Amino acid sequence: MLFFIDTANVDEIRAANSLGVISGVTTNPSLIAKEGRDFAEVVREIVSIVDGPISAEVISLEAGEMLREAEELAAIHSNIVIKIPMTPEGLKATRACYEKGIKTNVTLVFSANQALLAARAGATYVSPFVGRLDDIGHDGIGLIYDIIEIFDNYNLETQVISASIRHPLHVLQSAKAGAHIATVPYKVLLQMTKHPLTDKGIDAFLTDWAKLTGGKA
Ligand code: E4P
Repeated sequence: MLFFIDTANVDEIRAANSLGVISGVTTNPSLIAKEGRDFAEVVREIVSIVDGPISAEVISLEAGEMLREAEELAAIHSNIVIKIPMTPEGLKATRACYEKGIKTNVTLVFSANQALLAARAGATYVSPFVGRLDDIGHDGIGLIYDIIEIFDNYNLETQVISASIRHPLHVLQSAKAGAHIATVPYKVLLQMTKHPLTDKGIDAFLTDWAKLTGGKA
């Protein structure tokens, strides 16, 4: 499973990228709005930091307009992936992008049927939202299992991005379910590096070393 970072904050993206484990970035209009900066400017800065798929989302709800936005965003850099909401118009736009060789990430996927439709429309990626399903008492990780099973049944090439990740357990469960990618907030990425026994082990090593050297390095 690959890791994407789910943020539009360039400081977080730089910090995450420096860990050497990030293969791409996902943004959405809410994440961009949080930064209070020009959309295209943020996207350009992100592509200069991470050399991998960078998802940027369209705002229009009509297929023709979505395609127009998609073409504009795709012209910024070859790593740009167009995030398109999972609606009938979104499916049309996804197909149109596919025919023009523009990569897409169909977002706001909450059912396996939606994922299957997106794959058939030619989506490069689908993004099932695990955390938002859990929030309403549904089984977010169960959806990842279902989509992987269905895509495997029909050898569909569309990759599954486990999205709306809230904590490290979601990441672990996504990996077990066979998600191709998990897009994780920076906070969760850092939480994943932590274990109390690691910290305790380092303390013990340093204390023992200090006994040997009398505190000298
Ligand atoms: C996915 O690409 C979305 O940007 C994101 O994972 C949504 O997460 P949220 O439910 O925490 O907003």
